[in-house]
Amino acid sequence: MSQTLLRIDASARVAGSHSRALADDFQGRWQQAHPDGRVVVRDLAQQPIIQIDATTIAGFYTAPDQHTSEHTQATALSDELIAELLAADVLLISTPMYNFSIPAALKAYIDQIVRIGRTFSADETGLHGLVPDRPTYVAFAAGAVYHGTDLTELNFVEPYLKNLLGFLGLTSVEFLTVEGTSVDPAAQERTTAQAHHRIAEVTAA
Ligand SMILES: Cc1cc2nc3c(=O)[nH]c(=O)nc-3n(C[C@H](O)[C@H](O)[C@H](O)COP(=O)(O)O)c2cc1C
Repeated sequence: MSQTLLRIDASARVAGSHSRALADDFQGRWQQAHPDGRVVVRDLAQQPIIQIDATTIAGFYTAPDQHTSEHTQATALSDELIAELLAADVLLISTPMYNFSIPAALKAYIDQIVRIGRTFSADETGLHGLVPDRPTYVAFAAGAVYHGTDLTELNFVEPYLKNLLGFLGLTSVEFLTVEGTSVDPAAQERTTAQAHHRIAEVTAA
């Protein structure tokens, strides 16, 4: 059966974006390896996801058969995004670091897909992810260098996304990281080459 790649882009930059360049390479190679494959693209910068509001949250915590028309309307985008996520065989998220964390555009998406009873559950035994695991790649670009430096603790992007995705059940997560794009050309060159090398490996048929 043909496979589906769900690509989610978060950089506000379209031209000159390092994270999007990694995702472009990934998508191109993946399509070569899966000629029948389908690619679904969510560009969170060019088509922003609306933020959840009080009615959305009320809808999340109200059983569907008790939904008012307002609840149904306010949770429709969440329904669509969750269905799209569950239908994907492979996930590819491209994101920059903004202010040591993820862009607000990506956080708005996350707030729509993290949903009780749909993508996680809570009971007396604790919290459980409801999203069956699938290969998930994060093409990540940061202006400074965090790996192996004294800035490590300021990199909230990787631990946050790893834990958030793991919370949903997505534990097969790999980061394809470019660092130093603002301040360290040598590190940028080295990490870019490493990331593209790894992309070639993981997308090989
Ligand atoms: C609004 C904004 C905030 C940023 N904050 C950080 C930061 O906290 N730490 C950092 O290392 N780089 C920071 N950067 C640099 C970006 O992470 C870097 O330019 C990265 O390459 C952006 O991803 P992109 O190339 O995919 O657009 C910031 C850039 C912007 C535009």
